[in-house]
Amino acid sequence: MVKLSHSFVLLALASMAVLASVPARAGSHNGNSSLEKRAAKHGYNAVNGAGFRRHVRRKHNSHDQEGDGTQNEQQGGAEQDGGQSKNNEGGNGKSGKASKNYQGASGDGSGSSGKGTTDGSSSSNAKGSTTSTTAKGTGSGGSGSSSDSAPAGATSGCTFSTAAQVAAGKDKCTTIVLNNVQVPAKATLDLSGLRSGTQVLFQGQTTFGYAEWEGPLILVGGSGVTVTGASGSVIDCGGDRWWDGKGDSGKKKPKFFAAHSLSNSHITSLNVKDTPVQAFSIAGSSGLTISGITIDNSLGDTKGAKNTDGFDIGSSSGITISDVTIHNQDDCLAINSGKNIQFSKAQCTGGHGVSIGSVGGRDDNVVDGVTIESVKISNSVNGVRIKTVAGAKGTVSDVTYSSIQLENISKYGITIQQDYTLGSGEPTGRPTNGVKIQNLSIKGVQGSVGSSAVPVHIVCGSGSCTDWQWSGNEVQGGQKAGGCLNAPQGITC
Ligand SMILES: *[C@@H]1O[C@H](CO)[C@@H](O)[C@H](O)[C@H]1NC(C)=O
Ligand SMILES: *[C@@H]1O[C@H](CO)[C@@H](O)[C@H](O)[C@H]1NC(C)=O
Ligand SMILES: *[C@@H]1O[C@H](CO)[C@@H](O)[C@H](O)[C@H]1NC(C)=O
Repeated sequence: MVKLSHSFVLLALASMAVLASVPARAGSHNGNSSLEKRAAKHGYNAVNGAGFRRHVRRKHNSHDQEGDGTQNEQQGGAEQDGGQSKNNEGGNGKSGKASKNYQGASGDGSGSSGKGTTDGSSSSNAKGSTTSTTAKGTGSGGSGSSSDSAPAGATSGCTFSTAAQVAAGKDKCTTIVLNNVQVPAKATLDLSGLRSGTQVLFQGQTTFGYAEWEGPLILVGGSGVTVTGASGSVIDCGGDRWWDGKGDSGKKKPKFFAAHSLSNSHITSLNVKDTPVQAFSIAGSSGLTISGITIDNSLGDTKGAKNTDGFDIGSSSGITISDVTIHNQDDCLAINSGKNIQFSKAQCTGGHGVSIGSVGGRDDNVVDGVTIESVKISNSVNGVRIKTVAGAKGTVSDVTYSSIQLENISKYGITIQQDYTLGSGEPTGRPTNGVKIQNLSIKGVQGSVGSSAVPVHIVCGSGSCTDWQWSGNEVQGGQKAGGCLNAPQGITC
């Protein structure tokens, strides 16, 4: 909790910093950004970023610091490229990826706050008075751009409207506005290799051409980066063009968003629609705060979307995800490996539950220190879920799930299984004890499951589930089936 508030404070600071650097726009979000206005004012062409240098300046320093502050002593993650991210049920164990989304549903006042709330404002939970105050302050100061200087050799503000412009200019800019970018087929909107302290703002509608390929549609890497969606912006993946009911099989589908080797950074207020397959993949990253994201794949419920994981995390540390709203068709969250991970204030609908796992059978098989709190899981196959791979080795330790609300769960309210199979996702029915699940707290899981579901399902290996705390869990409905296998004493199914 302490850590959580800490990150919220940082987040608020981040939002303010974004505002400070991107003064309020008149309110609408189509077309003319504050940066463009500033560019116009200074007589520059912001669209291709040329000539902006030194004329629009911001406080990069404070921003960099936020980035640093965010990091909770994690050392940079292993260099992986996400191959370990997740195993998709029925899939081939590929990495997941994530889409992200915006702010509306997560309720930060989505632009209606009218006044100065600009783009950046939407950043997640900065809201209300803080936001507008800040916006005002900066609004007037926006032009007072001449006091700070952009880093040597950097152009401070760039507005891009094509992926090619991004590729060509991204490392020269410390503020990047992505204005209604149409990314061509088989291209990645590549935001890796940014300068430290760079702020990226998605504005308007971001779309992608169609091709069968693996993606990612968007890649972000670097250090001290802030990625935000402007109020009213949408990143529309057009996933229905790929959906064929086969997920990882069938047509090759691009993953949505790779946050790989990203450190001390923030991703906020993105409004994502219709990812072809997995949405956000977080791998080899540390000190990353993600908030105010909406992933709306609800169309996929009837149009054949599958394996559309919300957030897949592998080999990463100090990852905080909060205020997210996900409607998808696979795990809302899946942690394959990593340390010091928090997931809170989330709504997960339509998917397979909030999961740790599957763990085992990858390069990194350690999950240590996870807090999952204040999550509502509805219309999903499972609620709380931990899955470890039969026959594999690994550790899951120091995990707390608390204040979890369940509604209309079709299979298991709480499921902890040590008989998972990578690839098929099927249980073997023969749990093994090579992956330990130790110091697990499940507290305050409430609500109900559907009539043919099982409220609590535990299948542990012999001696591999130890030191569990279990309190305040009341899952109504469903059927009692079997019993707990090898569960720690006092826990009943
Ligand atoms: C954007 O706003 C500026 C100043 O408000 C104006 O000069 C410019 O023409 C506008 N650009 C567009 C594309 O509307
Ligand atoms: C329950 O969830 C399923 C999806 O698992 C959905 O199809 C159904 O409409 C939901 N029922 C209600 C009453 O929301
Ligand atoms: C058990 O895990 C919790 C986090 O869920 C942690 O705060 C606590 O220190 C751990 N206890 C031990 C003995 O490691």
